[in-house]
Amino acid sequence: MGDSMKQDFPIFSRQVNGRPLVYLDNAATTQKPACVIDAMTQYYSLSNANVHRAVHTLAGEATEGYEACRKLLKQRYNSDYVVITSGTTEAINLAAHAWGEHNLQPGDVVVLTEMEHHSDIVPWQMLAERIAIELRFVPVEDGELDLDALEVALDGAKLVCVVHTSNVLGVRNPVEQIISMSKSAGARVLIDAAQAVPHELIDFKETGADFMAFSAHKMCGPTGIGALLISDSAFSEMHPFMGGGDMIQTVTLEGSTYQTNEHKFEAGTPRIAEGVGWAAALEWMSQIDLESHHKRLLKIAKNVAGQLEEKGMKVYSTLNPGDAAVVSFTHPTIHPEDFARLLDAQGIAVRTGHHCAQPLMEKLGVNGTIRASFYIYNDDSDAEIFLTGIDRVLEAMA
Ligand SMILES: Cc1ncc(COP(=O)(O)O)c(C=O)c1O
Repeated sequence: MGDSMKQDFPIFSRQVNGRPLVYLDNAATTQKPACVIDAMTQYYSLSNANVHRAVHTLAGEATEGYEACRKLLKQRYNSDYVVITSGTTEAINLAAHAWGEHNLQPGDVVVLTEMEHHSDIVPWQMLAERIAIELRFVPVEDGELDLDALEVALDGAKLVCVVHTSNVLGVRNPVEQIISMSKSAGARVLIDAAQAVPHELIDFKETGADFMAFSAHKMCGPTGIGALLISDSAFSEMHPFMGGGDMIQTVTLEGSTYQTNEHKFEAGTPRIAEGVGWAAALEWMSQIDLESHHKRLLKIAKNVAGQLEEKGMKVYSTLNPGDAAVVSFTHPTIHPEDFARLLDAQGIAVRTGHHCAQPLMEKLGVNGTIRASFYIYNDDSDAEIFLTGIDRVLEAMA
């Protein structure tokens, strides 16, 4: 299965350090199918122009190509409002500025979790510096969020921000339950879906969440582009964060009026080629049965995790049903970076370090882990080569 899909991805025709590439750093970024690369090249070669402004043919093609991305996102994730951002990080920062700053007062409570990526911690800490909100963190116990602690933290909360699927552990949090608990407590909810949308199709309206942030590059799309989905009611409470071209209706020297739709949050020339590329990725993904790949990859990851444990590794990922195929582990004595370099020498790409989740690392009692993350083009043979690669590292370091 993986081999035939790999044919769609030019990168898999190359070798790394004399070996066929085994790419297991998908939680960091995924590879791009030829249709995405071609769409972007074609845009720059034949249709390059600025969007939303001129009446000439190229401007029309550029606008159509870019707006196709928003349209596909609205359809795929069932959202009336899709603001195109540079990625998950900018999407969360946008929510903090455009919603947080206008709807939270000093002393108001925002609930986060110990499992968040830095991009869902730092923007709220910066907001706390600006308007003295209180941040409460739901603890993680054995890889799971403590929902009893969430219940307590929800007292008086105005916003709950939670990572749907952990980039470190692959754990899929019970977001449906968390949203329902948060809504009962009267809080708005932001979902960091950066690691979720690559693996499952989410109906945003059905979740009941108010904000959902994700990045194109983790789902076969280009880097530098992502989205913030916004519920109708939260949208009506937001105010523009960046001013400039494209987001206005009128400008006089005395003042300006703003667009009423998503464009009011997209000042300046947007990421046009990236939008065209993401649209191509979304079309391509629409033919992929994510659910069956998700189950297949989880099985591969579980098998890998079991064998790593037999080889003396400590595995932190729980790999329960629904989790992403992410295996985070450490060796008792070999430093993760040494491990990764020796794997790289065999053409195997994994990630090491704190994975932009230092509070979670502290909770796990480590400075960093080695992370092998699998995606739709990976198969059993990748897992086999990876495990053989691990044996070679252990032999070399013995
Ligand atoms: C869970 C999670 N949230 C947020 C981000 C940030 O995404 P980006 O760097 O594309 O903005 C990542 C990226 O690794 C992530 O895994």
